[in-house]
Amino acid sequence: MSLKKLFIKTYGCQMNVYDSERMAEAMGGEGYDTVSSPEEADMILLNTCHIREKAAEKVYSELGRYKGLKAANPDLKIGVAGCVAQAEGAEIMRRQPMVDLVVGPQSYHRLPDLVSRTHNGAKALDTDFPEEDKFEHLNARPKAKRGPTAFLTVQEGCDKFCAFCVVPYTRGAEVSRPAERIMTEARDLVERGVRELTLLGQNVNAYHGHEGGLAGLIRQLATIDGLERIRFTTSHPNDMDDALIAAYGECEKLMPYLHLPVQAGSDKILKRMNRSHTRDQYFALIERLRAARPDLHLSGDFIVGFPEETEEDFRDTLDLIETVKYGSAFSFKYSERPGTPAAERPQVPEDEKDDRLYRLQALLKTQQQELQDAMVGREVSVLFEKAGRLPGQMVGKSEYLHAVHVTADGIAPGDLARVRIDASGPNSLSGVLEPR
Ligand code: SAH
Ligand code: SF4
Ligand code: F3S
Repeated sequence: MSLKKLFIKTYGCQMNVYDSERMAEAMGGEGYDTVSSPEEADMILLNTCHIREKAAEKVYSELGRYKGLKAANPDLKIGVAGCVAQAEGAEIMRRQPMVDLVVGPQSYHRLPDLVSRTHNGAKALDTDFPEEDKFEHLNARPKAKRGPTAFLTVQEGCDKFCAFCVVPYTRGAEVSRPAERIMTEARDLVERGVRELTLLGQNVNAYHGHEGGLAGLIRQLATIDGLERIRFTTSHPNDMDDALIAAYGECEKLMPYLHLPVQAGSDKILKRMNRSHTRDQYFALIERLRAARPDLHLSGDFIVGFPEETEEDFRDTLDLIETVKYGSAFSFKYSERPGTPAAERPQVPEDEKDDRLYRLQALLKTQQQELQDAMVGREVSVLFEKAGRLPGQMVGKSEYLHAVHVTADGIAPGDLARVRIDASGPNSLSGVLEPR
């Protein structure tokens, strides 16, 4: 039997990247092999993101591009998965009638069944939030060799309801996967070559599938031989408990890097965002984290131009950034999302948002560069991932997630080595191997 071909395009966050991998595996069990271009495909699946208006619009413009392919091959199946699928459901098929199936992020284990229902032009839709664990019902991962780093989703959904955000609606309530299943999946990934795991969750530190919470899970994962590094993302400041803070000081495999979004620096805006903590509570938390792990690098997410944000409120955000000093950050203009409370409030003009984003990003960029430059002369650990552009060069990541280039013989992907940093460029560091 010849294999059918599946093309998956992934938008949005790392959880979508993980889900796409798992869907590819599940469809592998149905005789589909993944391909890298839509032109070769028998089935196209868009794994979508609804977080900002632009992200959602991209889906429709991408679908528009497939019209010719569908006209040339009426058997071509087109599916929309992910957060736009959840948010818009059957509306997607009304706007783009060539779409055959729509599947929400909590129903991926039903994908093979949905596909089988799309024969002879029939449409299939599933946007339920079933009780069962979608990962449990997906086919076991085939034993293909993996690169040195992998994502592993441990928690899904969000109960926080920040006033700007669609995630609680698209991903549903907070659910944690049982620790035992995560251990099995982690051991399997390590056997296949993975050295570094990034545990994923919309609120990963609200994980409660282990009696010791996320810290307990990390400590248990750290017992796996061959697993060298553990990271997790994304955390909410209010779920950062004592055990997790302590783990930064005690668990060697937990990397000294933490993505801890604050979104804004003024108490007024934090309150209106429904973030449920103040600016001072965030500073106090960072102080405790740095006491546990003095070399901790922080990363954050920021929104500028949230409804009713004044110039003064915005300056509080700049001031917060000056105080914390971020190793990296993502920043966005506030985008009105249908159905969220903030969309109903008085909006900040677009040119004002543009101006604030520009100033915020300039500050973050300077800060990021300063922190990166400060690595020169220091020794870091590097997990090598792939060959660089120059002959004999390899690229990997430091414990602080800086890209590091090294030119030396005999390094392979998956090797972990000590490197002395000797130069800092615009986006990466370079250095030399330390003698073992
Ligand atoms: N659970 C994570 C983040 C999920 S979304 C957390 O709590 O931080 C990723 C980021 O997108 C958010 O941190 C926020 O900065 C941004 N974001 C979410 N909704 C947005 C909106 N309506 N407009 C602009 N940015 C948004
Ligand atoms: Fe969205 Fe807030 Fe939940 Fe993060 S914590 S996913 S920003 S609602
Ligand atoms: Fe986007 Fe959904 Fe992730 S909205 S950011 S793909 S959780």
